[in-house]
Amino acid sequence: MATSTRKPVALVTGGGSGIGRATAVRFAELGYSCVVADIDEQSAKETLGMLQTPGIAVQVDVTMATSVEAMVTAAVQHFGRIDCAFNGAGFEGSYAKIVDHPEEVFDRVMALNAKGVWLCLKYEIAQMLQQEPVVSDPARWADKPDLCRFRGVRGSIVNASSILGLSGFQYNSPYCASKWAVLGITETAAVEYAKDGIRVNAVCPGLTATPMLDRFKEKCPPALRELLDPESYPFGRLAAPEEIAEAVCWLCSDACPFTTGEHLKITGGV
Ligand SMILES: NC(=O)c1ccc[n+]([C@@H]2O[C@H](COP(=O)([O-])OP(=O)(O)OC[C@H]3O[C@@H](n4cnc5c(N)ncnc54)[C@H](O)[C@@H]3O)[C@@H](O)[C@H]2O)c1
Repeated sequence: MATSTRKPVALVTGGGSGIGRATAVRFAELGYSCVVADIDEQSAKETLGMLQTPGIAVQVDVTMATSVEAMVTAAVQHFGRIDCAFNGAGFEGSYAKIVDHPEEVFDRVMALNAKGVWLCLKYEIAQMLQQEPVVSDPARWADKPDLCRFRGVRGSIVNASSILGLSGFQYNSPYCASKWAVLGITETAAVEYAKDGIRVNAVCPGLTATPMLDRFKEKCPPALRELLDPESYPFGRLAAPEEIAEAVCWLCSDACPFTTGEHLKITGGV
């Protein structure tokens, strides 16, 4: 089992915008080297320009296995390993009741939000399995040999689900289906790879001020408009992407070594 003083490496998909961008920025503030991956390479490069630690921008389409595999290869070629990953790339789809919802929207949303997460896990975990387990703070665990035996970590992954992965939501069935699927994939991966020293968790944000929310406002059917009033929320406001990023980085960190297969609801009390 290795100990290390090198900078840990974080990979973020959807890193060019919103929650993904805020997560890459927070990882960098915490000292991680970052792989910022997005289908929009220019936005990934813009995020890279905000980071104070080493990083690379990678163009990826998370719906395509070859593209996801190339992203992981690029990360490993540059930094040697992947300690943490946030699978944040996602798309809100469109708003209509099921009878009126185009089938191709269901397929596109599931391909990006559900299959995209599954593909990222597939290649990220394959890489992590090849990595030497690391104990980042051995002195802290020296007097607990039983715990220490299990402290080697090959990697930690967080997937983007949503409050809509925990409930139904009228007019948005494809998105709900995809975010419930993310939780099933997360829990399955967690139990499959716990003994390998890989943790897999999910975050379930409520409405968060990002470009996705701006699009939601534009497409929002009248029946849902009251949901956009910040005053209707317990804090009287929506979440900032930085508040979701903080939770992602905590779940990825060594602060919660026994936490896996969990989803953290970050909704400001909703
Ligand atoms: N904003 C919210 O209110 C909210 C709430 C709950 C969950 N989420 C989830 O959090 C995640 C981030 O959302 P956001 O609000 O930051 O969205 P966003 O639209 O600001 O960012 C999403 C990013 O994903 C990228 N992307 C889209 N398709 C891609 C693909 N095929 N391959 C790689 N990258 C691709 C986009 O270019 C964009 O940079 C999403 O999974 C979203 O479903 C968001």
